[in-house]
Amino acid sequence: MGKRIAVLTGGGDCPGINPVIRAVVRKALKEGYQVIGLKNGWKGLIEKEIIWLDLNSVSGILPKGGTILGTSRTNPYKSEENLKKAKANFKSLKIDALIAIGGEDTLGTAHKLYKEGFNIVGVPKTIDNDLSATDRTFGFDTAVNIATEAIDRIHTTAESHHRVMVVEVMGRHSGWIGLEAGIAGGADAILLPEFPVGIKEVCDLIKKRHNRGKTFSIVVVAEGAKFKQDQEVLQEEELDAFGHVRLGGIGQLLGKEIEKRTGFETRVTVLGHIQRGGTPTAYDRVLGTRYGVKAVELVIEGKFGQMTSLQGNQVVSASLEEAVKTLKTVPVELYEIAKIFFG
Ligand code: F6P
Repeated sequence: MGKRIAVLTGGGDCPGINPVIRAVVRKALKEGYQVIGLKNGWKGLIEKEIIWLDLNSVSGILPKGGTILGTSRTNPYKSEENLKKAKANFKSLKIDALIAIGGEDTLGTAHKLYKEGFNIVGVPKTIDNDLSATDRTFGFDTAVNIATEAIDRIHTTAESHHRVMVVEVMGRHSGWIGLEAGIAGGADAILLPEFPVGIKEVCDLIKKRHNRGKTFSIVVVAEGAKFKQDQEVLQEEELDAFGHVRLGGIGQLLGKEIEKRTGFETRVTVLGHIQRGGTPTAYDRVLGTRYGVKAVELVIEGKFGQMTSLQGNQVVSASLEEAVKTLKTVPVELYEIAKIFFG
């Protein structure tokens, strides 16, 4: 009987996961492995919910958003009992190697299990692009393109109505989506978690712009952005299994303040999960495919505790430990470029 690879997808979904699954399955089958999918992230390992993956199961999934395996934010380290089950099932399912596709939480769990002796390889996934040890996570390119298209559309209605339009994008602790979509969409101000600004500064930028004859403005704000001396704006205080609060609401707050302080009519659009849905860009399909193939190569080479990583134009491997140690945030040099176009 051939060796067995298991694959799971955990945390928030994103466009490009299915191309990774497809590539893992195609490459692994070619190399003589059997492949099983664990359903709904770590939950599938805890509850032994699996599906066999063959050529037919991954046929036609390349352009599809989401994940055919389902996902969850289940954290096996939250409960002794679940952790025990996960470890026992790794053995009873005769898994020789597990490929975990996920962001900081999923890969953090992958790293812990690896340190306890399990053969695990990671694939970095998140629209937020905030994982260290890789230049890019797949899903990010699609999210930036969706947000840019939205800003372009908002531009025309802003111009017609002479309004300030606030666009809230995702980005919990890092503002990569806000930065890139903001630059690409020609935003007049961009607020990111890394660089707290005062509401007065934002209003001054808008007033300056209107003083030179412009009658509309676009402000992009990441959901995790903070005002100087303020906390994040929360939608809910409740924590998820990995200890995160639900963010959201900063766009509304900012919009209200701008209207009050400048007197310009203001509207707010929250892009939310639209950024995570739908078909992946060609870039994410290709990156996901390269990551999937590389993940199987890492399994063959026995390079466990590693994840696939993009360095420049090369797909290489990087340690999971490095990847989850610190978040990759937006460097000040890039924000300075964006600022040239403010106001
Ligand atoms: O990590 C990706 C992300 O999209 C964050 O930007 C966002 O804060 C979070 O997931 C929202 O997750 P959900 O609403 O699916 O729990």
